[in-house]
Amino acid sequence: MTFLKHYLLIFALCILYVESTDPSAQVCNENSNKTTTEITKNIDSLLTKLVQATSQSGYDATSVGRGKAQVFGLAQCRRDVSIEDCSSCIRNASKEIRKMCPNRVDARIWGKAQVFGLAQCRRDVSIEDCSSCIRNASKEIRKMCPNRVDARIWYEYCWLRYNKENFIGNVDTGYGTFYWNVENVTDPKTFNKSLGALMYRINMLAAAPGSKGLSKGETKLSDFQTLYALSQCTEDLSQLSCRQCLAIAVGNFPTYCNDKKGCRIIYSSCYVRYELYPFFFPLDKKLALQSSSMTNYSWVVTKP
Ligand SMILES: *[C@@H]1O[C@H](CO)[C@@H](O)[C@H](O)[C@H]1NC(C)=O
Ligand SMILES: *[C@@H]1O[C@H](CO)[C@@H](O)[C@H](O)[C@H]1NC(C)=O
Ligand SMILES: *[C@@H]1O[C@H](CO)[C@@H](O)[C@H](O)[C@H]1NC(C)=O
Ligand SMILES: *[C@@H]1O[C@H](CO)[C@@H](O)[C@H](O)[C@H]1NC(C)=O
Ligand SMILES: *[C@@H]1O[C@H](CO)[C@@H](O)[C@H](O)[C@H]1NC(C)=O
Ligand SMILES: *[C@@H]1O[C@H](CO)[C@@H](O)[C@H](O)[C@H]1NC(C)=O
Repeated sequence: MTFLKHYLLIFALCILYVESTDPSAQVCNENSNKTTTEITKNIDSLLTKLVQATSQSGYDATSVGRGKAQVFGLAQCRRDVSIEDCSSCIRNASKEIRKMCPNRVDARIWGKAQVFGLAQCRRDVSIEDCSSCIRNASKEIRKMCPNRVDARIWYEYCWLRYNKENFIGNVDTGYGTFYWNVENVTDPKTFNKSLGALMYRINMLAAAPGSKGLSKGETKLSDFQTLYALSQCTEDLSQLSCRQCLAIAVGNFPTYCNDKKGCRIIYSSCYVRYELYPFFFPLDKKLALQSSSMTNYSWVVTKP
């Protein structure tokens, strides 16, 4: 706990939050490998692919570079044998030629420049905003992280990630970014109960088939106050993994957002947010802007 307090002290900053075009979070993993020319080339074509697909359908997960099929197909050749000879060698499979194709050669040699990527928009956002957001993200991520193979960037409307390791389908809560409204609610007990019930309800729905990982909801706290919440998983996750990620996110409420008027938790695999003003679409813009532009947030980042 002492460590945690220390950590908060160092990293907590206050910001006046407007629904902004700046990234909400970003990671350039300094512990990941440096890029090579070939990897950089593949990242560039990966980003082009992701922007194209996501601008049309709101989500894409894909890879660029030699895939597993080829990797395993070519796995039995010596490093000094050309790819063509190697393929032919395996096909011919004659005893003579076996000399050229001994077993147990490092399979990764053929797939070493492959990169995996995922891009997704928050599923309540219009396709125009989505497209604009993902375009910005693809430019910004290269500027922010020009020479590492693991980079991630999150905006309010979209997020984008690539890595040399295949992360698709895995729950990842290693990096977390937590925002909380510095103001406390006036009636913590009632608030906590309503929040717990609302989060439980929407998290079940986010994981349900056909939801595209999104769920949003609201609940009246009093005649003049409404609580709004949204959950979003990345769409590569199974139902079980989605529920798992959201449960971990909400499990952080007591630590970072206890009795706070607003909270956002950003993980690589899921996103959770609640506010006492509307922030998701369809949106009452006037009501949203009035409240959000005067909101004072603190934030903290955790690493794996
Ligand atoms: C970094 O590259 C080396 C050599 O190519 C490889 O053995 C290692 O697994 C890579 N590490 C990561 C985290 O990708
Ligand atoms: C495989 O067989 C074809 C035709 O039988 C031959 O032309 C080719 O040279 C063989 N490949 C290798 C690597 O020897
Ligand atoms: C993308 O960037 C441009 C220029 O900075 C900005 O005007 C626009 O609002 C951004 N779009 C989104 C969705 O963030
Ligand atoms: C909110 O409550 C916490 C603990 O109950 C207290 O430490 C903090 O000062 C309060 N914040 C404000 C803005 O009143
Ligand atoms: C709020 O509710 C959660 C369960 O929904 C509980 O774990 C937490 O301790 C509660 N916090 C307070 C301050 O009552
Ligand atoms: C935001 O909160 C910080 C710390 O609680 C405070 O110092 C600052 O004056 C606040 N800003 C506004 C505009 O309320």
